[in-house]
Amino acid sequence: MTSVGIDAIEVRTGRLKLDLAETFAPEQGDDPEKYTKGLGLFSSSFPDAYEDIVTMGANAAHRLMERKGLEPEDVGRIDVATESSFDNSKPVSTYIAGCLEQVYDGDFHHANKGERKFACIAGTQSLDDAVNWILAGRNRGRGALVIATDTALYARDSSGEATQGAGAVAMYITEDPDLVELSTEQGYGSADETDFLKPNQQFPSVDGKRSVQVYLARMREALEDFERAAGDTHPDDYAFIPFHTPFPGMVRKAAVLGYRHMIRGTDVEDELADDIGRQPRRDDFDSREAFEEAMSDYVDDLKETDAYREWYGEAIDPTLSISSQVGNWYTGSVHIARVSALKHAVEEGRDLAGQKLLVASYGSGAQAEIHEETVQPGFEDELAELNVDEQVERRYDLSFSEYEQIHDRHNHEKSVELEPFTQPDSEFVFDGWGPMNERQ
Ligand code: HMG
Repeated sequence: MTSVGIDAIEVRTGRLKLDLAETFAPEQGDDPEKYTKGLGLFSSSFPDAYEDIVTMGANAAHRLMERKGLEPEDVGRIDVATESSFDNSKPVSTYIAGCLEQVYDGDFHHANKGERKFACIAGTQSLDDAVNWILAGRNRGRGALVIATDTALYARDSSGEATQGAGAVAMYITEDPDLVELSTEQGYGSADETDFLKPNQQFPSVDGKRSVQVYLARMREALEDFERAAGDTHPDDYAFIPFHTPFPGMVRKAAVLGYRHMIRGTDVEDELADDIGRQPRRDDFDSREAFEEAMSDYVDDLKETDAYREWYGEAIDPTLSISSQVGNWYTGSVHIARVSALKHAVEEGRDLAGQKLLVASYGSGAQAEIHEETVQPGFEDELAELNVDEQVERRYDLSFSEYEQIHDRHNHEKSVELEPFTQPDSEFVFDGWGPMNERQ
């Protein structure tokens, strides 16, 4: 079987930062620890006046192409995943290709372009489409550019406001990839849900508390479905488990449920039995309510065990480092979780080659998908090229009134005039509708 997966990855954050503890919490009258400890978020990224989903996506793709020495003729497909699109007809990939054509001699006339939409999971769906295109033998030796780009903003004073973010992830998908190979086995949990939606509106209508429950329910279904395809999972099978991360606190909730499921009937459950007993079984309870209460108590106890804490510290916590600084990037979110984990392994000097990741994607509406990835030899060379820490570090730190201006401009689809807070640095910039996105 041909090995197909992610050959290269690039991350592009919006150039502005909102500090949640210092700047946002005092204005909300909230304890900063609600954000830093409760949600696990320290700051969010926002686009400057000259940035949008096209420029962030094009800048990420351009940096990726430059450092991999790619020309347009190497790219047979450009798929953009976004839930922030401004055009119901022309896919954002055509706008991004238009930007890239300004700086390359060749063009992308031969490339199949599209746009994928299913909330945050569309990034992973585009990745799947690219992998399937190559596995089907239709790529004629070319790779696919997959770009996940979003400005994830919520209405002011809504529950999601603290979880905002803006950024893009570009990935190059090929045969014999340098970074990770994707498994063909996948598991899905999918249902028609209405807790988070944007029917022709700028900001989502969201029932935040329910969205958390829907995420957990679909994720559980996806894990069960993955096991039907790939066999039982065990927590020790995976170096890291990157989840879709709307905020790190969401992943804390999902991780313990995933762990509980994976240890059922294993040596780990046996070892923990003396301290916290065995997992309740539905057959031992007269009512579903009594069973659920017993299970909830078991999970509370499980979270406090050394075995769980150690596993969480190794397999989950390292996936959250970038998200905790940039917020929710919707379609890019699970892909920055993967980058965070691999970056951590490099920083620790760990050779992950041949080891597995379990990647858990999610999109409201709602669908979860789980697949495995195998880290490729030399992955550290690819990670060494990333400058995400510098990008996060150099963001302009907004005051609250500056944040209000940026939010307002976004709300009114950029018709509000606003001087940029930063200077573009040899990059694609948004300069109004019409012939757009000049490179400076
Ligand atoms: P909220 O209601 O304002 O916050 O917003 P809360 O009161 O539930 O507090 C959050 C946590 O902080 C709680 O912890 C509190 O206890 C804790 P938990 O009980 O959940 O573990 N807390 C504190 N901790 C320490 N010190 C303190 C303190 N105060 C409170 N002083 C909510 C939470 C999730 C509702 C909100 O952020 C929201 O609406 N977010 C947007 C929706 C969302 O992200 N949902 C996640 C699942 S859906 C999804 O992931 C899809 C999505 O990405 C979209 C897509 O797919 O396109 C959103």
